[in-house]
Amino acid sequence: MESMFTVNDKIVLVTGGSRGLGLYAAHALLVAGASQVYISSRKAIECDKSAKALNAIPGVKGKAIPIAGNFSTLDGVKTVMEFVKTNSGGKLDIVIANAGTTWGAPFEKHLPDMLDKVLDLNLKGVFYTIQQAASLLEATGTAADPARVIVVGSIIGLAVTGGGTGTYGYLSSKAAVHHLSKALAVELGPRHINVNVIAPGFFPTKMGNGLINMIGTETLAEVNPTGRLGLPEDIEGAVLYLCSKAGAYINGVVLPIDGGQHLVSKL
Ligand SMILES: NC(=O)c1ccc[n+]([C@@H]2O[C@H](COP(=O)([O-])OP(=O)(O)OC[C@H]3O[C@@H](n4cnc5c(N)ncnc54)[C@H](OP(=O)(O)O)[C@@H]3O)[C@@H](O)[C@H]2O)c1
Repeated sequence: MESMFTVNDKIVLVTGGSRGLGLYAAHALLVAGASQVYISSRKAIECDKSAKALNAIPGVKGKAIPIAGNFSTLDGVKTVMEFVKTNSGGKLDIVIANAGTTWGAPFEKHLPDMLDKVLDLNLKGVFYTIQQAASLLEATGTAADPARVIVVGSIIGLAVTGGGTGTYGYLSSKAAVHHLSKALAVELGPRHINVNVIAPGFFPTKMGNGLINMIGTETLAEVNPTGRLGLPEDIEGAVLYLCSKAGAYINGVVLPIDGGQHLVSKL
């Protein structure tokens, strides 16, 4: 009997898939049987490099396919979606809306341009991604095995903590995509598209390291109920659960992946 925790023959798009949490998600889904995993971010060279590394994993049947694109603009999203549609024969089963950015400055010095930059990608870009993918996802989803969207939020969108100080656009964008995803889960559920959110805590990535280095890895580990920061497999396991048959009846949840930190931490 086939495991419930596979995504055999599924076609996947990962935004911001060239590194960090997006790359972890792409890896998990490719290893679990996806036939095509589109890796998209702005820098073509980074997408190519990451796709090449994924395609070199021994025993993997599917293919990672690089496609550069800017998810901050509707035109950028449309261009990537056209590429996916053409190359996949109009099929798409899973979207990981992960591309994100941050910026921090004290309250009085916060710049409008930076608020725009963060909200354009983290909020508007997530909306455009789901909007432009919906018809492709609807073509593949069924009642027994719906298409899946996973939005990458953050625990900073769940609780007001010192760690979020100064990232006004970022923390607002994450709370906003949590709520947006719940609304879309209700709206798109009848079209056999499940929408869920993962809300990571602290993971050492290019983005995560900014704050991790400021606060200190040891300090962060000490205040975490599990005594550590996030690892790639923490993201991989959650993504696989939500995208496989095992997660077919999960719709509209915000799943913290943080060792319980949002429940206790002032950081
Ligand atoms: N790391 C953490 O601790 C943490 C915690 C909570 C939530 N998150 C969330 O997790 C997601 C991934 O973050 P990460 O930590 O993996 O960060 P990261 O290592 O900096 O990766 C960000 C990814 O997004 C891409 N990207 C940035 N701007 C883009 C744009 N305009 N269009 C398309 N792609 C773009 C980047 O590639 P290019 O530069 O080539 O575009 C890269 O692939 C984000 O939504 C972040 O808010 C992270």
